[in-house]
Amino acid sequence: ESGKLWGGRFVGAVDPIMEKFNASIAYDRHLWEADVQGSKAYSRGLEKAGLLTKAEMEQILQGLDKVAEEWAQGTFKLNPSDEDIHTANERRLKELIGETAGKLHTGRSRNDQVVTDLRLWMRQTCSTLSTLLWELIRTMVDRAEAERDVLFPGYTHLQRAQPIRWSHWLLSHAVALTRDSERLLEVQKRVNVLPLGSGAIAGNPLGVDRELLRAELNFGAITLNSMDATSERDFVAEFLFWASLCMTHLSRMAEDLILYGTKEFSFVQLSDAYSTGSSLMPQKKNPDSLELIRSKAGRVFGRCAGLLMTLKGLPSTYNKDLQEDKEAVFEVSDTMSAVLQVATGVISTLQIHRENMAQALSPDMLATDLAYYLVRKGMPFRQAHEASGKAVFMAETKGVALNQLSLQELQTISPLFSGDVSRVWDYGHSVEQYGALGGTARSSVDWQIGQVRALLRAQ
Ligand code: ARG
Repeated sequence: ESGKLWGGRFVGAVDPIMEKFNASIAYDRHLWEADVQGSKAYSRGLEKAGLLTKAEMEQILQGLDKVAEEWAQGTFKLNPSDEDIHTANERRLKELIGETAGKLHTGRSRNDQVVTDLRLWMRQTCSTLSTLLWELIRTMVDRAEAERDVLFPGYTHLQRAQPIRWSHWLLSHAVALTRDSERLLEVQKRVNVLPLGSGAIAGNPLGVDRELLRAELNFGAITLNSMDATSERDFVAEFLFWASLCMTHLSRMAEDLILYGTKEFSFVQLSDAYSTGSSLMPQKKNPDSLELIRSKAGRVFGRCAGLLMTLKGLPSTYNKDLQEDKEAVFEVSDTMSAVLQVATGVISTLQIHRENMAQALSPDMLATDLAYYLVRKGMPFRQAHEASGKAVFMAETKGVALNQLSLQELQTISPLFSGDVSRVWDYGHSVEQYGALGGTARSSVDWQIGQVRALLRAQ
């Protein structure tokens, strides 16, 4: 006996280099628990269908529990012939309970088995990642609430644009992450569909009740078509895309914080716990945590693009190419878990320099508000924009700050300027104008916090 699940029609031995090339056990061993779970459910299905006696089923269930125990305790010994996790578990089951083990795979194929295992594993992982994602969001919202009276410059094109609340910046990132959480839930819904009972391609000919399998494994639904079920990896692609988009958001936040943490900006200071030093320059404290978050985004995209390329040229149904889906899922899951925890740590320990933030505000950032001042006096916005632009030019020409122009000087631009224009130069007054929902006024920031907290409570 070759020790292979498929040895019957083979005569010669497989080239050792091919054996190694073909094996997936090095990584799909992560699926051991899901594989045991799936097999236990399947043996119950076989018993109900009259293909196992109750005693045989009990024997298999106990054997599988023993297999799981060995994995859990780290005593499971792999054989060189263990091609993948399914082979390894069945081989061990046979050693433990004898020939009855050979009945477990009746009507089943590794094609429906592996995709069932992967879905079980990913269902759990999605829950874990969702919890970590919400922890990060909560941390950001807590900060946003505590620091909502801190003002600093908002940038577009990395040029000073308008004064905003620091909380408004925090919430801008938190809100993006709430969409990632929503998307993850969608992915999880499509992960949570049971393919078991599809066999290799044609289905199950032995009367196994797939509804019973679904209930046993607590899936939300069963797959509709056995050919599709054994070959579709949409749920994997969606998961990898979810991760890619979430990483895009985290990378953007990391990039902002890296900039804000430079001496040139000096708005924030990263905690020592998330920084590292230079082996050469003693003064250095580098934001490695944020740089790694930014760079991991690239790796995650790579996994997503890689899987899509693998899928792209395949004919229908199972092809061995599909074996390569798992490393992507495992790597990306580990990465997301680490990144989310590090990001939470960074945000919760970050120091902000309020004075530097306030000092970085400059009157030119109020040029838009100066135009709105004229709009409130009845001037059409296009003209007001032009007038405010002229004021900016005048100040620049005179070499003074925008708020240093005298009333008389402003009145040469428009007679609508009067003494109350001085209010425009108050940054606190500026942000408070943006009270429409979604804006940077305190009432709107409070509203945003309330909205995100409501989502948090619904978790
Ligand atoms: N190790 C394989 C995988 O991960 C299991 C399925 C193999 N099926 C087959 N017919 N060769 O995809």
